[in-house]
Amino acid sequence: MIVDLRSDTLTRPTAGMRAAMAAAEVGDDVFGEDPTVNRLQSRVAELLGKGSALFVPTGTMANLLAFLSQSRPGDTIVLSEDAHPYNYEAGNLAAVGGLMTRTIKGSLGQITRAEVEPYIVQTPDHHYSQTRIISVENTTNRGGGNIYSIETIRALRELADANRLKLHCDGARLFNAVVESNYTAADFAKHCDSICFCFSKGLGCPVGSILAGSRDLIDEAHRFRKMLGGGMRQAGILAAAANYALDHHTERLREDHRRAREFRKALEGLPGLSFPFQTPTNIVIFEVPDLMQFIGKVGGEGVLLIPMGPKRLRAVFHIDIDDAMLAHATKACRAALAG
Ligand SMILES: Cc1ncc(COP(=O)(O)O)c(C=O)c1O
Repeated sequence: MIVDLRSDTLTRPTAGMRAAMAAAEVGDDVFGEDPTVNRLQSRVAELLGKGSALFVPTGTMANLLAFLSQSRPGDTIVLSEDAHPYNYEAGNLAAVGGLMTRTIKGSLGQITRAEVEPYIVQTPDHHYSQTRIISVENTTNRGGGNIYSIETIRALRELADANRLKLHCDGARLFNAVVESNYTAADFAKHCDSICFCFSKGLGCPVGSILAGSRDLIDEAHRFRKMLGGGMRQAGILAAAANYALDHHTERLREDHRRAREFRKALEGLPGLSFPFQTPTNIVIFEVPDLMQFIGKVGGEGVLLIPMGPKRLRAVFHIDIDDAMLAHATKACRAALAG
């Protein structure tokens, strides 16, 4: 049995999703004429309470478009040192946007008003790069799938307003946060100028992310998407998968969270193994004394995990992992630690 827990991007489209894709009504989206893309974009704009939304190939592009559309080269983006755009987006902020980053240590991959405030630069002195955007991640990937509280986001909004800054949310796993909290997607989005989420992670689609914001912001993002080669033609095939996921795959994220908790519970207390963070959603981060040996042993049993540091591992639960696979993974991890 192969139990691939490396990422929730490994999901394969279900039969229902494939049928929806096959049946999709399509047109040329670069002409704005794909009815399925248009329906998805309107639906998401409404869901998030924003003026407009733009379907894009990846979360990386959604973040980049948000940054490009709200800054000028030479500006600074403030974000957690664990943030995805800082760690894993190939330096695109610098290479494509000409942007500087000011990273904040934070905790659980999150940043607070008190942590960010001292690093804001707003001055007429032309020596300095001006702070332009604060970026948060919800849920946090390197922070173990942790969820921002609305209070923390609201306080960052107030800080942004007081300094004429923009607030962006990388909500790659926004619906994991939604189903596990008392907040709606719009509650989180309300405080942000721009917000994106991915269809290609827990929602189980093969491709796709979406960026939402004001009409003007999305108009600007649309120009940058074209510039970066992200204009897609009969993209309704992909948007149909996204629409299907919004209909069928959000509530089921709770099952991934339940399995992540059960996995953790089964490993808790084992000698040598520790958990640096809580596990509120689908990502379990844990530490073992000899990472390569552990990965090798569980890999021999078909259980695939990804390293997140010299001792740190990540297991991510998703739609392709069922209870039998959970039991197999748990057993393999326990046996690997036993010697
Ligand atoms: C928090 C977060 N943001 C952005 C992305 C980028 O998404 P993509 O791989 O679609 O570019 C990821 C991907 O894992 C992510 O975890």
